[in-house]
Amino acid sequence: MDRKALMESVQAQMSSRRWYHTEGVMSTAADLVKRYGGDPEQAELAVILHDVAKQWPVEKMAEAIREEGEYLEVLDHDKELWHAYAGAYAARRDYGITDPQVLDAIRFHTSGRPGMSHLEKIVWLADLIEPGRSFPLVSDIRELAEQSLEKAILAGLDTTILFLIEKGKRIYPLTLLARNNLILKEAEA
Ligand SMILES: [Fe+2]
Ligand SMILES: [Fe+2]
Repeated sequence: MDRKALMESVQAQMSSRRWYHTEGVMSTAADLVKRYGGDPEQAELAVILHDVAKQWPVEKMAEAIREEGEYLEVLDHDKELWHAYAGAYAARRDYGITDPQVLDAIRFHTSGRPGMSHLEKIVWLADLIEPGRSFPLVSDIRELAEQSLEKAILAGLDTTILFLIEKGKRIYPLTLLARNNLILKEAEA
């Protein structure tokens, strides 16, 4: 499937607003790759597909996760996380994507995880700060993103975790581990 057909197929599975978000993530990820390096085509592929399952019915997400059978524990956590896991599986099953780095960048784009790859960092941060995002600290995080990928992600994780606490929601352990891991790495740097 060529790039245009892939984009059309993904776009058909979401609202125009959600696709507009994906286009924003594409442009932000491209900027981050220019600044920090990485393979632009690999990043673009991960971004096009990152939210492919976002607007699937919850049961379809759960079915995909069960069918893949490798990350069943996510079903015990917040449903917000499911689309990332279902999306990674859909990228492989429905679009023949085999690059494990692309699949992981899709799978961990919401939670993050300790030891994120460069590609995972680019996709995670681009998803958070694309031009359509408007949460209180987004401009601070955008500024940090011009100085350090890791510092920006750390600030983004802090914001995400604080938001979840304020809402009285559970925190996915990988998100906390991602933050701890980045703090350690920043201290070593
Ligand atoms: Fe997402
Ligand atoms: Fe997204």
